[in-house]
Amino acid sequence: MDYLSQLFDLFPAPHRLLPQSTGFVGQFAFFSIKDAITILCAAASIPKAGVGSFNREPPSEVPFYGRSPPVYPSPIANGTTSDRWAAAYEHARALVSRMTVEEMANITHGWPGPCVGNTGAVPRLGVPSLCFYDGPDGLRGQEFVSAFPAGIHVAATFDKDLMYRYGRALGDEFHGRGINIALGPVAGPLGRIARGGRNWEGLSNDPYLAGAGLGAITRGIQDAGVIATPKHWLLNEQEFRRRWSSDGDAISSNVDDRALHELYVFPFMDALREGAGAIMCSYQRANHSYACQNSKLLNGILKTELGFEGFVLSDWDGQMSGVASANAGLDLVMPGAGFWGANLSQAVHNGSVSEDRINDMATRILAPWLYLHQESGYPPTTIFSNEEKHAPVDVQADHAVLIEEIGAAGTVLVKNVNGTLPFKNPRFLCIYGYDATVKAVPWTNPDRYGGGYEVNWGWEILNGTLITAGGSGSTTPPYVISPFQALQERVAKDRGVLRWDFYSEDPGTPYANTDACLVFINAYAGESFDRTTLADEFSDRLVLNVASKCSSTIVVVHSAGIRTVDTWIDHPNVTAVLFAGLPGQESGHSLTSVLYGDVNPSGRLPYTVAKKESDYGALLNSTVSFDYFAEDEFTEGLYIDYRAFDRDGIVPRFEFGFGLSYTTFTFDALFVSLMATGAGGENLAEFPNPGVPVVQGGHPELWNVVAVVHCTITNSGDREGIEVAQLYIGIPSEEDQLDTPVRQLRGFHRVGPLGPGEARVAIFELARRDLSVWDVVAQQWRLRRGEYRIWVGASSRDLRLEGSLTI
Ligand code: BGC
Repeated sequence: MDYLSQLFDLFPAPHRLLPQSTGFVGQFAFFSIKDAITILCAAASIPKAGVGSFNREPPSEVPFYGRSPPVYPSPIANGTTSDRWAAAYEHARALVSRMTVEEMANITHGWPGPCVGNTGAVPRLGVPSLCFYDGPDGLRGQEFVSAFPAGIHVAATFDKDLMYRYGRALGDEFHGRGINIALGPVAGPLGRIARGGRNWEGLSNDPYLAGAGLGAITRGIQDAGVIATPKHWLLNEQEFRRRWSSDGDAISSNVDDRALHELYVFPFMDALREGAGAIMCSYQRANHSYACQNSKLLNGILKTELGFEGFVLSDWDGQMSGVASANAGLDLVMPGAGFWGANLSQAVHNGSVSEDRINDMATRILAPWLYLHQESGYPPTTIFSNEEKHAPVDVQADHAVLIEEIGAAGTVLVKNVNGTLPFKNPRFLCIYGYDATVKAVPWTNPDRYGGGYEVNWGWEILNGTLITAGGSGSTTPPYVISPFQALQERVAKDRGVLRWDFYSEDPGTPYANTDACLVFINAYAGESFDRTTLADEFSDRLVLNVASKCSSTIVVVHSAGIRTVDTWIDHPNVTAVLFAGLPGQESGHSLTSVLYGDVNPSGRLPYTVAKKESDYGALLNSTVSFDYFAEDEFTEGLYIDYRAFDRDGIVPRFEFGFGLSYTTFTFDALFVSLMATGAGGENLAEFPNPGVPVVQGGHPELWNVVAVVHCTITNSGDREGIEVAQLYIGIPSEEDQLDTPVRQLRGFHRVGPLGPGEARVAIFELARRDLSVWDVVAQQWRLRRGEYRIWVGASSRDLRLEGSLTI
């Protein structure tokens, strides 16, 4: 590939920069072209060595071996986690024992079919083709299904109950359409890179918050009878060169063992503990070995350390070898035969892959199907193309109510001067900005509101209200309640007046009688590309222009991740700002309920908003390398997001965990106690008992509660509201100078609603894992000796109570 086409493969193709609809796109096209030119110029200064690598022969990979230790053979699962798994395994083994090698090879790969992925069937044994379907926030590409808020929005609720109900409602929709396996939820990417293209599909870059969400959503999906697939295992932290291409191998995420466990594996542990039946391995290389053939990640961590009972499926076309991937622990390849099919049968017949291994693959695929009792009475698969006329299969139930609730609960108020919000019976509102209403043109890809991989590629904003983002995690809302529509409904009810301009970058002087001006902007992202900015200039100019003419300017940001706001946040006329996330189909209703005070905001930022992009340092951008074997060194170890800001003393604009309410809360009466159980206080031993067998999710003692913390939260304001109490710990590090973050989230509670003056006790249970570090020598979670510092507060920097516990 020549140099220029290489660049256009990396950056937006010129035709995508052309005006695409009415509205502001003229200006958008202009600055995008400018950006493209900047990018081209920047790229032109890429060192010759990198550029020269495009046409050369692939270099030898031998020097790259050895960074991911080999772990063989692949563990054979047997259902020891619980009686329920054991029963599923007995049944699965009985079925597999009657299968030929060819039948087993047929169910371990994808086939054409109605779903995003379909396995082969074994009709004579009653084993059907299983249906796999995207995505993490709704059934993409179908009609009469709901568009739920995205993962990152759910995380902003800091509410485990809402996370569970989200998973359950999602699961009910997948179940109703006869889908066996839902391709979600997401904790990889975790969100290491501020501009990462898929961070919004996952929950938070804090592993504890991400884990709480991943666990609760998995439980919800599986309680509905559908197999959940936490993805992408592991370290798919950027989109740039996530896959093999003519440029060379996929990028390698090179991470140390401790950060691997304490950040990236951590959230998956929660999902496994909740019974996740499938795990999707990721595209890129991890410590030089492709994730779907990485024996350390699959055989080692997932199947040995974490006792995984289910099956590992490849990301779509993510398989990179036949025998090697089978022996490294991959169980199912999607969406086609990949390197398997007849080749796998042959490999078994000639001994390259053992019979035990293929038996284990097939057993692992059937066991979760039986664990969730899908073998009898499962609804028929009803998946249609939108060109097909069919009777509606409506699975929406009353999920719109939950979607609206989560939409509001995940909306984060970050600025509110002199009680601008909630509105007090406004008579006249002006609204501005492309994000206030739906796009004027039809969806570019009828299967995705937010666009597919091929449309909107490289865009930084969507010319319409953003409720989800792009790629396989996008959704197909049955309708979209835009902010404009919901505000119109409200204003009409109040017999008020509403005026708008969704087009101009510099709207005229607002009407003299307006009470407030609302400006709607967004920040778009999508699978297959990383973002090129955290704040586009068009939107920033729009906000400043409105603020320059309107003394009460309220900014609403719908964003697929971090959006910096420093260009205008301190403008005296910007009186209120809401981070409204990616709220799903009821967007306008959720927002209006917060604006008018029907819902008192309690959303909290699941990431840090820096004052300037450079504050994210090397973790702002994905690693851009043109080497054949591209490398991404995770040299920051544990220090991502607030852990890095705390270490480096960087003051963020809005810290992790921050969010305002229309009322105020006080925190008091901190109480910390250790749970020493057993005659010798075994509960506090340094390591979990090696004599106790591992079950799915890890050593069972990792989940034992070793300390309890509680405090009292009181509503000290004059309005009913909800507080999110957050617990942070500081791990003892002085004695041996352990390099460890100042503080890390290890508990949260959404407390309320509390009426004025009302108090409630928030109780936090700290499990062994939550107080442990990964000991790279012992290869085990180690409970440290010494004094743990404990903080409870309203954000990662608003720490109201401090205590300690000594082990
Ligand atoms: C994505 C997965 C998705 C799959 C099937 C891949 O490109 O990375 O997350 O589930 O496609 O659509």
